[in-house]
Amino acid sequence: MNTRRGIILAGGTGSRLHPVTRSVSKQLLPVYDKPMIYYPLSVLMLGGVREIAIITTPHDQDQFQRLLGDGSHLGVEISYLQQAEPKGLAQAYLLAEDFLAGGPSAMVLGDNIFFGHGLSQMLQEANNSTGGGTVFGYQVADPSRYGVVGYDKAGKVTSIVEKPSKPLSNLAVTGLYYLDETASEKAGRVTLSARGEYEITSLLEMYLNEGSLNVQRMGRGYAWLDTGTHESLLDAGNFVRTLEKRQGVQVGCPEEIAFIRGWISADELERTAEEYSKSHYGRYLKSLIV
Ligand code: TTP
Repeated sequence: MNTRRGIILAGGTGSRLHPVTRSVSKQLLPVYDKPMIYYPLSVLMLGGVREIAIITTPHDQDQFQRLLGDGSHLGVEISYLQQAEPKGLAQAYLLAEDFLAGGPSAMVLGDNIFFGHGLSQMLQEANNSTGGGTVFGYQVADPSRYGVVGYDKAGKVTSIVEKPSKPLSNLAVTGLYYLDETASEKAGRVTLSARGEYEITSLLEMYLNEGSLNVQRMGRGYAWLDTGTHESLLDAGNFVRTLEKRQGVQVGCPEEIAFIRGWISADELERTAEEYSKSHYGRYLKSLIV
């Protein structure tokens, strides 16, 4: 069986965060005590994905490389791809076609944060599924900002519409997509939308029309946060700070996941802990080694 490879989509313009994102990529901004990309990276790793491509703008790529390197200190393989222009989420599957090597994928948006009890298991199940696609539906107060799921009385999904003015439900599709090996071929058939993007919803519609799209409900016990505006970025930071202070454990710590999974040794973890020894993040890593 072909192993599932991961994609973190971390390009875009971040225009809602201007002027902050004029010189720094949004996905490198801090969400409390670590760069934003640590959170989606942790999500892929929690699901069991170990080969990951990070898609960035051409001018931001070297900063991501400086931060994460080849991923070996995290027990994963990280490679880098460039998106010349932000032409939409579905374009990622074309850019990553060679990287995916005809296999299934897990794509997460670089500015999405997920948290909740049972998340690991939910991700692992999606990771282990075969054929078709799995996406996650999350109830939101403002569905018009997202791709929205329509469903019939029996709960069967009947439509997915991007940013509808009259949403058929409150169920938004989150930025996490587990798709089978046909994703790149399907993405090649997506045409530009009225706003000039290759929409992920058009790609998901193809799966829906084939009857192979599973919309998994992410219930109210989960947090799905997006960090695209100053307010939501600050809210996300405060959310992480509150949890970490109260529980004394880290949210979105890729080194910890790698260590627990046995992907890195205590010595390897110790090396990173030493490097970050002046920060509380480094001291936390150190505390994991008993
Ligand atoms: P958005 O939040 O829709 O766009 P953006 O990040 O460019 O921000 P803004 O709307 O403020 O200008 O993007 C969601 C995620 O997908 C984010 O992590 C950026 C990424 N993205 C790409 O990498 N390439 C793209 O073509 C698009 C549209 C988004």
